[in-house]
Amino acid sequence: MAEGAKVRRVRDLMTRDVLTASASDLLAATCSRMLERSVGSAVVVDDGRAVGILTERDLVRAAATGNLEAATVAEWMTPKPDTVGPDEEIYPAFTSLSQHGYRHFPVVEGDQLVGIISMRDMLELAQVLRVEHPGQIEARRGLEGVVVAETEVGDVRGQEGFYHYRQYNAVELAAKRSLEDVWHLLYEGHLPDAAEAAAFRDEIASLRSIPPAVKKLLPAIAIAGEHFVPLDALRTAYSLLAYTLDFKSWMDIDAATRRADAMRTSAVMPALIMALHRLSRGQEPVDPRPDLSYAANYLYMLTGEVPDPDRARAIEQYLILTTDHGFNSSTFTARVITSTGADLGSAVVGAIGALSGPLHGGAPSRALDMLDAIQTPDRAETWIRDAVLRGDRIMGFGHRIYKTDDPRSVMLRSVAERLGGSMVAFAKQVETTVVEVLAELKPGRSLYANVEFYAGVVMDECGIPRELFTPTFTSSRVIGWTAHVLEQAADNRLIRPSAHYAGPPPPRPVPELT
Ligand SMILES: CC(C)(COP(=O)(O)OP(=O)(O)OC[C@H]1O[C@@H](n2cnc3c(N)ncnc32)[C@H](O)[C@@H]1OP(=O)(O)O)[C@@H](O)C(=O)NCCC(=O)NCCS
Repeated sequence: MAEGAKVRRVRDLMTRDVLTASASDLLAATCSRMLERSVGSAVVVDDGRAVGILTERDLVRAAATGNLEAATVAEWMTPKPDTVGPDEEIYPAFTSLSQHGYRHFPVVEGDQLVGIISMRDMLELAQVLRVEHPGQIEARRGLEGVVVAETEVGDVRGQEGFYHYRQYNAVELAAKRSLEDVWHLLYEGHLPDAAEAAAFRDEIASLRSIPPAVKKLLPAIAIAGEHFVPLDALRTAYSLLAYTLDFKSWMDIDAATRRADAMRTSAVMPALIMALHRLSRGQEPVDPRPDLSYAANYLYMLTGEVPDPDRARAIEQYLILTTDHGFNSSTFTARVITSTGADLGSAVVGAIGALSGPLHGGAPSRALDMLDAIQTPDRAETWIRDAVLRGDRIMGFGHRIYKTDDPRSVMLRSVAERLGGSMVAFAKQVETTVVEVLAELKPGRSLYANVEFYAGVVMDECGIPRELFTPTFTSSRVIGWTAHVLEQAADNRLIRPSAHYAGPPPPRPVPELT
């Protein structure tokens, strides 16, 4: 029974105005009265006592004999029916009714008939019982710890502070390989050899440019909103691109075309981000350069200048570290959309939407905003303590999966240290203070810096403006999303969970409009 629901008894739901008959009544006449009253049974009484019940089932049996004119109720009724008392609880009564296959119970108090309870009355049970669906498994809120699919793309081991792309440690990949190699690993299932790597780089470079039909409309998108919101503009422009390129339901295209849609999407994303950014500031977009690495080209399209290799490598490492991360919310969103048979463009648009939330991808600029607000190291502890006591979340800290150091944060801290810059020492001090304050005020929650805290510091040092932090995250995560989309399409099952309805009890009659 639903928690807090009051105990309901048969008396609360029974019909008091019972259609009764005598055993000596004619069957045909009783049948007419049942039709008039639109009820499925008549209780046969003798001096107020229920001695039988005549149900539709009895009438069907009688009709099969074909000779009803002189038949009496006594000949066809079910004698000595099971009854219930008015003070019995509704749930056991309902169970008994359904176990016996009855549709009606006469309600008897002492030896007198006082009502009847039917399946129809039992419909009201929906108001007092929690609805159970057959085979239903209760998942934890937020699907925490719930395994919903099999994947070969990668996984996160939160307790160990470890995550991997296919069989490789993602942090080691970021230390040793290029983004293009990691992309190849996710799409093709293995790290490329030198020849494969060169061919893959060329393929990506050839897909970087924005199609002319989209390029023409980007200025309108960049200035359409009252304020330029880069991720919203990117979602809009990418949706236009998927439409322009005529991406189709993956069910209507072959695996090679699905891969082509995925490659085109991931390859063109940086150009869309940077073109929109520049247009929003009244600048001409910078066309991508096929001779530059993915990361160097990313920074090149921002300024029009070939970036310093150390910065390009720092951004490349950030991009590698954020390419994939288990069944995070945006990846799950992409897979849910794909599971319906939708085109890859729809899955990516949905994933961008999921990523936009501050609880997912929208935090790195907020983490830097926090550093700005703290201003100086001596103010850190008071500022953080006040924020936590107010109930605020400290942006860039805490994680659903990691209950120890986030390995991405550890590596990005070292990337930030390698790059140097004014902010690094301050950020490290704030990190230590936040961890200490959270350990004191939120004991046992194991809250540490997540990927977003040092991501902001690294991107800032590489000259990426704050408003482009989440779009930059998008430009790497789209590779993970599309790898998952391809995997989902290759072995699909519609993802369609259930929910417990917790609103006002149904069914209530729909009121007429007065
Ligand atoms: C990422 C995040 C959403 C994970 O949340 P989650 O797994 O749902 O964890 P919960 O919201 O259940 O938090 C558990 C407890 O830790 C606290 N907590 C978690 N992150 C916190 C943070 N950044 N600052 C302060 N308290 C935090 C919660 O208030 C909660 O405390 P309570 O038990 O007193 O209610 C959460 O840590 C957060 O909001 N972080 C800040 C935003 C951020 O950095 N996002 C980027 C993620 S990569």
